[in-house]
Amino acid sequence: MTLTALARTRAIVICCGSGGVGKTTAAAALALEGARLGRSAVVVTIDPAKRLANAMGLDELSNTPKRIDGDWPGELWAMMLDTKSTFDALVLKYAPDRSQAESILRNRFYRNIAGALSGTQEYMAMEKLFELHESGQFELIVVDTPPTRNALDFIDAPRRLTRFLDNRIFRWLMLPTRAYLKAVNVATQALLRTISRVVGSEVIKDAVAFFRAFEGMEDGFRDRAQRVLALLSDPGTAFVLVASPRRDAVEEASFFADKLRDAGLPVESLVVNRLHPRFGAGRPEADRERARTLAGTDLGALFANLADFRLVAQREDEHIAGLASKVAPAPVTRVPFLPTDVHDLEGLREVGGYLFDVAG
Ligand SMILES: Nc1ncnc2c1ncn2[C@@H]1O[C@H](COP(=O)(O)OP(=O)(O)OP(=O)(O)O)[C@@H](O)[C@H]1O
Ligand SMILES: [Mg+2]
Repeated sequence: MTLTALARTRAIVICCGSGGVGKTTAAAALALEGARLGRSAVVVTIDPAKRLANAMGLDELSNTPKRIDGDWPGELWAMMLDTKSTFDALVLKYAPDRSQAESILRNRFYRNIAGALSGTQEYMAMEKLFELHESGQFELIVVDTPPTRNALDFIDAPRRLTRFLDNRIFRWLMLPTRAYLKAVNVATQALLRTISRVVGSEVIKDAVAFFRAFEGMEDGFRDRAQRVLALLSDPGTAFVLVASPRRDAVEEASFFADKLRDAGLPVESLVVNRLHPRFGAGRPEADRERARTLAGTDLGALFANLADFRLVAQREDEHIAGLASKVAPAPVTRVPFLPTDVHDLEGLREVGGYLFDVAG
């Protein structure tokens, strides 16, 4: 589907791809397009460049979307994901009572890992997506994803969190200690003592308290993980793959595309961002030849440059062709390398000019 069609019809659009390719930019441009098409759209961004965040009125991490005013018929909202407070909200939601929730939130171990737990950012992005979807406030939710080498990190994150809570050593830590410690073998106790010596017994105590505090909450998390996964494979949800035309980036993007397809979540649109300029039809070899015959002159130098540019463009096209056939029938949208960063609404509009049908 074209990006315009996605922005017009879908409930959820997830922009994924490897680091630095333009996911945040594409996600913000998609939400802006949704608003331009009269929908109420929100973009959940992760680590936007500071200037873009400022331009969108996002001066600080926030757990709730902020509305951006502008001359579009719809609504544009944006938020910068605050991993930690999303996690806190989840703990509050699933804790059987307030005091259990508070004992988790106060726990030092929790405070240390809540932001750093591997996959937390991915998990929280999915969590936030789910919550915004449930709220029914938005017709279009665009999700930016964190830079990750593994496409499935964020799809897999809910499952990973439950697996983490299911982990045997943590289950063991959660058991009423004294009775159980008698039963565990000497080697395990020795191991625990060693760990205590290395990381400090306070850390172990905090960890034990942490997992105890989570007792009884796994089911809530597991159920939630299932529902998030169901939402990702809903027909109203689309995955947009963002890539840059460099060889290594294209290889990573291909890997992403494969993984998504294996997970039953095919890429529905491909964006190739930051293409080098094209100088019409012509073969680099021919320009190179003219550069040789004009060697030593200004024109010769220009032809040598032209040959270089055409060669870069040719390579980019070759790289893209393989990726395009992999994600077919997803359409490919190309965005040139712009002279400046995309750091304000004007910049987003400019990118939008390449991403979306002019007629709207
Ligand atoms: N077509 C373009 N031309 C010029 N600059 C661009 C273009 N697209 C994006 N940029 C700039 O490149 C930088 C990276 O873009 P962006 O933040 O969207 O990438 P990302 O994939 O979200 O990165 P990360 O993986 O680090 O989150 C930004 O400074 C952005 O303004
Ligand atoms: Mg980003």
